[in-house]
Amino acid sequence: MAHIVQISDTHLFGDKNATINGFNSYSNLQTIFNSISSLKEKPELIVVTGDLSQDCTAESYKHLYDFLLKSGIKYYLLPGNHDNVSIVNKVFNYKWARENVDYSADYKGWLFYFLDTSVYPEAHGELTQYQLQKLEDTLNKNKSKPTLIFMHHHPLQISSWLDGMILLDFDKFNSVVKQNPQIKGVLFGHIHQIFESNINGTFYGSAPSTSYQILPKTARFALDAVTQGYRLIELTTERFDSKVIRL
Ligand SMILES: [Fe+2]
Ligand SMILES: [Fe+2]
Repeated sequence: MAHIVQISDTHLFGDKNATINGFNSYSNLQTIFNSISSLKEKPELIVVTGDLSQDCTAESYKHLYDFLLKSGIKYYLLPGNHDNVSIVNKVFNYKWARENVDYSADYKGWLFYFLDTSVYPEAHGELTQYQLQKLEDTLNKNKSKPTLIFMHHHPLQISSWLDGMILLDFDKFNSVVKQNPQIKGVLFGHIHQIFESNINGTFYGSAPSTSYQILPKTARFALDAVTQGYRLIELTTERFDSKVIRL
């Protein structure tokens, strides 16, 4: 059994005391990492699904880097609509550019696919034809492996105003998922609330934000008073299970 943590939408500032919508994203993230380090089963991997920074300063990304390093846990990152990848590159020593962030990794018989849906500084998500083709090609080569896809933007309609910043052409993405029943889960962030659905045997689920929460099913932006959280994933050879932990 492997345990994996998905955290999302950390929205950090260079200033540790700065707040967003009344929430201190730095201290909230500290609480998240305290919880992760006290889990009975130590996670083997942390996936951070975008909106890492709110102010795109090198200091904000350095805070995330420090948290991850201190945890001692291996991690994968994805950018969100708030992230300037040229600054991420400097802090994490990456070489991210449009269309080259996507990557896949074999993990204990599973395939993990990290899909960059961001088109900074636009709020919505997009996938190019090149990205969709690369995704399809990788899935076709790995048909026998149970697969998880991680991304930032939501690929399903959720609520009217949030769907103004959905992954555009989400139907193209979802038809690739439908053709690949080995995909057990599509895990995303961006919406700052919990969403869970099972479509043709594939679990679609979000992680809540680690900073501030958005009230579900409203016509316009409204804060939710619930606390920050993360998604804890359990994998066996074939089975995927997950739950959200709120702090
Ligand atoms: Fe966000
Ligand atoms: Fe976002």
